[in-house]
Amino acid sequence: MSGFILAIDQGTTSTRAIVFDGGGRILGVGQQEFRQHFPRSGWVEHDGEDIWESVVHTIRFALSHAKLSATDIAGIGITNQRETVVIWDRATGKPIHKAIVWQDRRTADLCARLKAEGNEPMVTAKTGLLLDPYFSATKIAWLLDHVDGSREKAERGELAFGTVDSFLLWRLTGGAVHATDATNAARTLLFDIGTGDWDDELLRLFRVPRALLPRVEDCAFAFGTTDPALFGAAIPIAGIAGDQHAATLGQACFSPGMMKSTYGTGCFALLNTGSELAPSSNRLLSTIAYRLDGRTTYALEGSIFVAGSAVQWLRDGLHLIDRAEASGPMAAEADPHQDVYLVPAFTGLGAPWWDAHARGALFGLTRGTGPREIVKAALEAVCFQTLDLLEAMKRDWQGAEDTVLRVDGGMVASDWTMQRLADILDAPVDRPIVLETTALGAAWLAGRQTGVWPGEEGFAASWRREHRFEPGMDREERTRRIAGWRDAVRRTLTG
Ligand code: G3P
Repeated sequence: MSGFILAIDQGTTSTRAIVFDGGGRILGVGQQEFRQHFPRSGWVEHDGEDIWESVVHTIRFALSHAKLSATDIAGIGITNQRETVVIWDRATGKPIHKAIVWQDRRTADLCARLKAEGNEPMVTAKTGLLLDPYFSATKIAWLLDHVDGSREKAERGELAFGTVDSFLLWRLTGGAVHATDATNAARTLLFDIGTGDWDDELLRLFRVPRALLPRVEDCAFAFGTTDPALFGAAIPIAGIAGDQHAATLGQACFSPGMMKSTYGTGCFALLNTGSELAPSSNRLLSTIAYRLDGRTTYALEGSIFVAGSAVQWLRDGLHLIDRAEASGPMAAEADPHQDVYLVPAFTGLGAPWWDAHARGALFGLTRGTGPREIVKAALEAVCFQTLDLLEAMKRDWQGAEDTVLRVDGGMVASDWTMQRLADILDAPVDRPIVLETTALGAAWLAGRQTGVWPGEEGFAASWRREHRFEPGMDREERTRRIAGWRDAVRRTLTG
């Protein structure tokens, strides 16, 4: 058996397929962006067929780029944008509606009502999550209430729900397997992360029929094999994890107290809390970091909705930069005496504020403010938000005290941003050599399951740091800037 593993990283704006060799080196990459649909303000949808086509295309491309065929691949690991809801017809495999994306806010009022009725403490105790439109359950309910006849069909067991991993697994196996993994299930608001099962009280609350739901398995598991008609041979699908959980694995954060932060479309920080489900008193999420061999490892998570997408906005919306890489050098040239703050609440604010109705704002503008200062404010907003998460984590869980943050995702290529992050956090920031940590984590699950890659210890030993950013900001300046940020957030919140 060869040690080649294929990872599918199905993200919010693009799909990537990456072939790794037995040593975790990248041999071939396929990448494709796909269309984002914004039918109304605050609504975000994807076409399930676009996602599927992008997956098939990028897999074929990555295999040919690596000069390998399906028979060379020992296993596939799937990782995905989380919470996004697909409901499809079991008979045809066709989605009944466009997928409702995690960023979509259409169920904000329903969440507010359920909260006003006093349901949040029960929901949080079971799921570790909050009543926010971010998660899957209210999106499922919306689809069943708005697509003609779908609720009856769902009750009769004719429809299937899945997060994107589950939809892809179904399609890749030619409709043979309807399953997901514990990390994706943990993001639906329907899964009790303590018992590790779908929960009837939650299903009743959100009016979701059990017949819709996939089976829940460990992250490393023999989920099934690909339909040979797709890639020329049946490839085992041997790992699944939500993208932030896969990144936690790819960063080898296996011990309690280890923490990673991924700067993609949004920013998601996960702190490993071990076998202990650490509840949050500071509006963070408790979640499943990963589940292996039937054993659950938990995490505290801070979710920020806008990180890299703020840089995209600078480029495509404001045309202040022509490519993302230009943002760091431009921020470095900003006037240091101007304290400009951007609160990028484009789709509301996530942790620890959870204000679905807040919208973005710029503060501290003067006649001298120009593109450089705005670019700098956008990059700094990501750093300030990470600080808010880290401080909440420290208040929630003692083991977070001396953690060194491991970072990954597109934005971490910027030295300026990473240095500023260390400065604002007043803590070291480690950037690894392999920046494709999300795909690497998914590949590791499949490699571990198929026995061609090492287990936790061996894999952790292969993790290498490329650079450590040490904090160096003057204490007074740091205090002033943080106070300015907090004031800006206060003025943006609607509640
Ligand atoms: O919870 C949403 C998250 O999984 C999306 O990640 O990398 O597509 O921004 P990303």
